Amino acid sequence: MSKKLRMGVIGLRMGKNHAKAYQTHPGSELVAICDMDKDLLAATGDELGVEKRYTDAAKMMKDAKLDAVSIATPNRFHAPLSIAALEAGLHVLCEKPMAMNAAEAEKMNKAALKAKRNLMINFSYRFSEMSYALKDQVDRGAVGDIYFGRTVWHRRRGIPGFGGAFTNKDLAGGGPLIDLGVHRLDLALWLMGYPEPIAVSGSTYDPIARAKADAAGATYTVEDLAAGIVKFANGATLIVEASWALNIEEREHMVTLLCGTKGGLVQKNTGGGYNFVAELYTDEGGNQFTKRLDWSTEPVPSSYHEFVDSIIAKRPPMATGEQGIKVMKILDGIYESAATGREVRYDR
Ligand SMILES: NC(=O)c1ccc[n+]([C@@H]2O[C@H](COP(=O)([O-])OP(=O)(O)OC[C@H]3O[C@@H](n4cnc5c(N)ncnc54)[C@H](O)[C@@H]3O)[C@@H](O)[C@H]2O)c1
Repeated sequence: MSKKLRMGVIGLRMGKNHAKAYQTHPGSELVAICDMDKDLLAATGDELGVEKRYTDAAKMMKDAKLDAVSIATPNRFHAPLSIAALEAGLHVLCEKPMAMNAAEAEKMNKAALKAKRNLMINFSYRFSEMSYALKDQVDRGAVGDIYFGRTVWHRRRGIPGFGGAFTNKDLAGGGPLIDLGVHRLDLALWLMGYPEPIAVSGSTYDPIARAKADAAGATYTVEDLAAGIVKFANGATLIVEASWALNIEEREHMVTLLCGTKGGLVQKNTGGGYNFVAELYTDEGGNQFTKRLDWSTEPVPSSYHEFVDSIIAKRPPMATGEQGIKVMKILDGIYESAATGREVRYDR
C-alpha cells in the first residue's frame, strides 16, 4: 500500500471523533492535533498518543507536513481555517454548518477549486446504513418524483450552555437551525437530489431561551425555534423546522418525510430518543402499503473514512462544498425572511 495520508485535526471536542476515525482507517494516520485549550490539547494528545500538538492552527499547517485537516472549531472559524488550509495545499473536512453564511461558503468552495483539493462538509447523519437504505429506495424509483417534504429536529429542552459558542450569534451564525437543522436539511436535500433553492420564507422565535437567559443574567443572541418553507427550481417544496426549546411531547423529535409521485419515505426517531425507524408508503392497485425498511446491511463508511477514501481515490467526496453552499443559502434565506418579514428569492 502507498504512503498513509497524514491527517491533522483542529478543535478537539467534536474533533476527537475525527481524530479517532483517522487512526482506524488503513490509509490514514493521525499526525497532529490543535486546540487553543492547552489542557484539552494535552489530555487528547496523551489519550490518542499524538506527539505533534499545536495551539496555533497556522503553525500546524506549516510545520506538520500534513495531507489533510479536519476543522471542528466553532462555526465562525470554519471559513478562515478552511481557506488557509486549502491555500496551504491540504484537503479539508469541515464540520457542519459549512460556514456562517453562503457568502463565506462560496469563498471556501472557490479556494478548494483553485487549490484542486477536496473540501468535504461533515453532514455526518447522512453516513449511516439507514440513510443509505432510504437513498436506495429513491434511486430505485420507489417514491417517483419527490415534490413535497418536511424535515424536522426539535428538542423539548436542549439549549446549549449559556456563555458557549452555540448561543452566541457572532461565533455560531445562528441557533438550532444552523446547529441541528443543517443535518435534517442535508438528509432531505440529499434524498431529493440536491435541487436548486429559488425561494425561501421563514420565521424565528426565542421566547423560551430568552426567558431562561434573562433569569440567569446571560447573553443569548440566537433563535430557539426556526421554521421555513423552501421552494426549488424543479417545483418541489420542503418545510424545515428546528428548535432547542419547544413545548412538545418528546425530548427529541426528528422526522424527515419525503412524498413523491409513487410513494412516500419517512425517517423518524421513536420514543423521543436516538432509535430510528424508516418506512416506505406506497399505493398498489388502490391499496395502501406501509413497508418498514431493513438497513441491517453491510456497514457503510463513516464520513471521516469517506473523506480519506475520496482523497485516495482522487474523486470528489460524497458531501461537497457545492451542497454545503445550497444548505447555507437556505439558512440565510430563512434568517433573512424572518428579519424582513418577506420571501427571499434567488431566481430574480
Ligand atoms: N457533525 C456533527 O454531528 C457535530 C456534532 C457536534 C458538533 N459539530 C460541529 O463541530 C464544531 C465544534 O463543535 P464543538 O461541540 O466541538 O464546539 P465547542 O465549542 O465545544 O469546542 C470547540 C473547540 O475548538 C477549540 N477552538 C476554537 N477555536 C479554535 C481555533 N481557532 N484553533 C484551535 N482550536 C480552536 C476550542 O478550544 C474548543 O476546544 C461546530 O461547528 C459544531 O457545529 C458537529
